[in-house]
Amino acid sequence: PIDAVDTVAALRRQVQSWRKDGHRIGFVPTMGALHEGHLSLVTRALEDADRVVASIFVNPAQFAQGEDFDTYPRTLESDAAKLAGAGCHLLFAPTVMEMYPNGFASSVHVEGPAFGLESQSRPHFFGGVATVVTKLLNQVQPDLAVFGEKDYQQLLVIRRLARDLDLPVDIVGAETSRDRDGLALSSRNAYLSPAERERAGRLNVILAELAREIRSGQPLEPAQMAARERAEAVFDSVDYIEVRDADTLEPIVAERVSGPARVLAAVRVGKTRLIDNMAV
Ligand code: PAJ
Repeated sequence: PIDAVDTVAALRRQVQSWRKDGHRIGFVPTMGALHEGHLSLVTRALEDADRVVASIFVNPAQFAQGEDFDTYPRTLESDAAKLAGAGCHLLFAPTVMEMYPNGFASSVHVEGPAFGLESQSRPHFFGGVATVVTKLLNQVQPDLAVFGEKDYQQLLVIRRLARDLDLPVDIVGAETSRDRDGLALSSRNAYLSPAERERAGRLNVILAELAREIRSGQPLEPAQMAARERAEAVFDSVDYIEVRDADTLEPIVAERVSGPARVLAAVRVGKTRLIDNMAV
């Protein structure tokens, strides 16, 4: 079984003793309900670190009223077993009170890559993510922290946050793990009925088509519009399906793409919101 702590004090004791022994420390923050995608981040961290800490904390600050905070899957026991199996050394699973004690009154504000896309449907999301990730990075003080490309906008927001606020940590991006039909693994896939699960598998196909069209030099606007129509035919709604600059996430103004670009989408199947993205 894996060592687990639920207080910042106990976490710091363990990490400090590893530091004294000269170990390099890697960190993988999660909200639990772990799948192979999360575990691949642990594997990536182990490539560059001697000791790896994973956190499990369903962060209330990044859920809006009416979102799935209360029903978000909580599977701590089996998560701990999976982390142990992946070679993770320590699980940090704090309570809400440990992270946000009475009187908590500060937060981190992010702009730049946080503008648009996810923020359109979830305006408070990246503020909540940035605040909790800043806390976690200060609590663990790792040499590197690994984030999935699955949440590409989140990865760029956190890279920028670390740079802008001089957080002494390398932010490492890891490739998206996918199911056999290409659906990006996600804790929220557990919400899908079998029929919805089938439809969900079309999102990565539509994104791959759009990426291929853009790569082959087709004009941006019509390709993007056609992809949106294909998505609207399959899904209950389409929050966005867009091509953006891969480094800044700014909209591309040129008729055709020349530099590095990324296609990103968010759609709804029934009550479940799916996001995915791909390199062009
Ligand atoms: P969560 O959704 O649990 O994801 C934790 C980490 O796993 C994130 O870096 C995410 O991008 C990565 N991940 C999820 N699915 C993946 C997949 N299929 N392949 C590769 N990586 C994947 O993202 C969060 O939690 C939270 O916002 C958090 C950063 C922990 C802050 O609360």
